[in-house]
Amino acid sequence: MSTKPVILTGIRSNQEPTIGNYFGAILPLIDLAKTKSGEYDVNIFVPDLHSFTTPVDHGKLYEQTMHNIKLFVAAGLPLDNPSVHVYRQSFIPAHSELAWILDNFTGMGEMTRMTQFKDKARTIQASNTVVNELRKAGLDEQMYKKLFAMVKLALYSEESSRQSISVGLFNYPVLMAADILIYGASYVPVGDDQTQHLEFARDIGGRLNNRFGELFTIPKSVKEQHAFFGKDQGLRIMDLQDPTKKMSKSDETGKGVIFLSDDPATAAKKIMSAATDSLGNIQHDRQNQPGITNLLDILALLRGQDVVETAKEFEGQERYGDFKKVVAEAMQAFLTDFQARLQHVDDAQLYAKLANDEAIKNVEANETLHRVQKAVGLRP
Ligand code: TRP
Repeated sequence: MSTKPVILTGIRSNQEPTIGNYFGAILPLIDLAKTKSGEYDVNIFVPDLHSFTTPVDHGKLYEQTMHNIKLFVAAGLPLDNPSVHVYRQSFIPAHSELAWILDNFTGMGEMTRMTQFKDKARTIQASNTVVNELRKAGLDEQMYKKLFAMVKLALYSEESSRQSISVGLFNYPVLMAADILIYGASYVPVGDDQTQHLEFARDIGGRLNNRFGELFTIPKSVKEQHAFFGKDQGLRIMDLQDPTKKMSKSDETGKGVIFLSDDPATAAKKIMSAATDSLGNIQHDRQNQPGITNLLDILALLRGQDVVETAKEFEGQERYGDFKKVVAEAMQAFLTDFQARLQHVDDAQLYAKLANDEAIKNVEANETLHRVQKAVGLRP
């Protein structure tokens, strides 16, 4: 196994990235890979096995996985740096095998406490509360029972068809722990929604170490992760229609969101119809002018400029239409250029990189797995 400390990060495969993801996650990750790869081994992988825990089009999953890796390459991820490893989780079978072993040292209660899982389970609980209140309000027993059955049926069938609380979602954190522990990763940049999962990886790793001796390198605490990566994970791009909420791929209309795959002219139109205000004053003031502020932020990011400078340029101007046009044109030019780069990603080079790195990672992962197999009595 490599002697350099390991930085590891997973990039989701089954969601189309937005420009918010591009500036907030993709670029910072590439920057990290470039600047830290001397001192650290940087593992960037696609947790494709994790994609089943959200709605997924199985017919498109493989294509989507490759597409998302290519987006990273188009954005500047270096394929010729031997310290930056790029691989797909399901191509390293030892992840799943280690996850199975870890499952048997994990309590049901531990998994039930995970908030991501709890959020979904809570929906069901809430409905029970409603029904109980109705009962207290004096509904006769027969009606109550009928209602209770109906609510449960509606929720469970809706949940199972639409969101499906599968066993996969339930023990998702165990596979994530395996992803991390199998390479002895010390640094894992995680957003707030994943810190609990990182804590679990530390717990389960420590638990097996206590019981069987030093099997795993334990990842650093969340506090140390924040100190290492910087807690402030960059700027947030807001929704174009509702600039008080974060730009998110789950927006139904798609009008407030710009995807990296958007037709550049359509993206320009979305900028032109972005919600602003009636103050007639272009300035960076998130509190009172969130729409204008968001557009200034976007323009600054597109230009690679400090937003203070961008804001200065438009100071005193009143015509939002003219300002929007500048932003729209910058966006259109950026997407046109990015999509051209995406078209030119060298498939042969990418597949060669994946084959090379997945071979290396299989050796590393199997080493850890073998150590664990011996410890738990599966191997002599
Ligand atoms: N759970 C992460 C997410 O939803 C993805 C992921 C899977 C991951 N395995 C990982 C992240 C290991 C870091 C380390 O974003």
